Amino acid sequence: MRDILPPDSDRWRRFNSIFTEVVEAAGYGQLMTPLIEDVGVFTRIGEATDVVTKELYAFEDRGGRHVSLRPELTASVCRAYAQHRPTPPWKVWYTGPNFRQEKAQRGRYRQFDQVGVEVLGVDDADLDVEVIALAWDFYRQLGLQRVDLVVNSLGEPDDRARYVEALRTHFEAAGDALTEQSRETLAKNPLRVLDSKREPDAPFIASAPQIAEFYSDDASAHFARVQDGLTALGIPFAVEPKLVRGLDYYRRTIFEFQGGTLDSAQNALGGGGRYDGLVEALGGPPTPGIGFALGVDRTLLACDDEGVFASEPRPLDAFVVDTAGGSEALTITAELRAAGLAADRAFDGRSMKAQMKLANRSGAAFAVIVGTDELAAGAVVVKPMAGGDQQTIPRSDLIPHVKAQR
Ligand code: HAM
Repeated sequence: MRDILPPDSDRWRRFNSIFTEVVEAAGYGQLMTPLIEDVGVFTRIGEATDVVTKELYAFEDRGGRHVSLRPELTASVCRAYAQHRPTPPWKVWYTGPNFRQEKAQRGRYRQFDQVGVEVLGVDDADLDVEVIALAWDFYRQLGLQRVDLVVNSLGEPDDRARYVEALRTHFEAAGDALTEQSRETLAKNPLRVLDSKREPDAPFIASAPQIAEFYSDDASAHFARVQDGLTALGIPFAVEPKLVRGLDYYRRTIFEFQGGTLDSAQNALGGGGRYDGLVEALGGPPTPGIGFALGVDRTLLACDDEGVFASEPRPLDAFVVDTAGGSEALTITAELRAAGLAADRAFDGRSMKAQMKLANRSGAAFAVIVGTDELAAGAVVVKPMAGGDQQTIPRSDLIPHVKAQR
């Protein structure tokens, strides 16, 4: 878990505000759910995922309730839908931290932030395209160019189940030639064996059956429409038949945004898909759902790699330097701020030299020097920090003067 210090924190806020604009312009409203939920909400993500079996921050609270910090938000959104029964379609967006006990490394943290959207109650493939396009537009607005979109379909639940069995048979035939980790994965979730990046597994993955062979007509038609829609919007994508994603709830369309220079295990900047059975598993009516979550931490690392979306903390307009020692520095600073200007000041009665150093370091456009003689004459001294001569101006001109030169 990390601290995010200023000025880096500035980007986090702007990241969220750009995301908010993109999704609210498409009719999504913000949903805020608790950081902690009954652990059962998250075990519905799937008993065969690492997120549930190894990574949950689950504990018993003082009331003996089994709860967990959230590892993601999709399950919480579905829980909220099942609980409040809003009128579908329900289009929501969210932002906030998630917690997974993972082995931390660059781009993989135990507390990480996501922004995302979920839509409940719509089956239409055009919505899959809308959801993917929102994420795509957002990356573009950040200035990211090197993001690859990969898509796949896991078919309808029956297709998926038949495919999983075919994979099981295929990988079991490989026997001990598969790595031990993959044999363990196979016992729990044959699909995830396709995720293995280990060399000895590669030939068996290459020769594995393909999901497309198992699609029902409906699943094929849905996936074809998604691809046509992406093409119609000019969004480049690649179909990746081995894309399975790490969470168990997915059905039909899945997608991932890959990029940056992170290791391949961390190169997913975001991902999502359809999870048509999740609301029902959480006690609601059968409800189709789709959404994505983008990792804020990883996306910002990708921005660093591409040299885009740097920190731009708000610059100060004025830094008040006080040599008079009365209450004028206090009131002048307050007046500047009340006028909508960004102003800071020195404290602790430091020397003029020390205060000017602070003014310099603050990056303010002006130092406003409050001296005894000037005050007696109803004036202040204004010094442009970028260079140029200082000026003595009437105190009443201070705000227009600073504003005029912003
Ligand atoms: P996910 O693939 O587990 O999907 O996470 C989405 C994104 O969150 C990842 O692509 C990555 O950028 C970021 N992320 C995940 N774990 C970490 C970590 N330990 N450290 C840093 N970043 C991380 C989900 O969470 C699904 N809820 C997405 C979704 C929404 N599917 C449908 N709707």
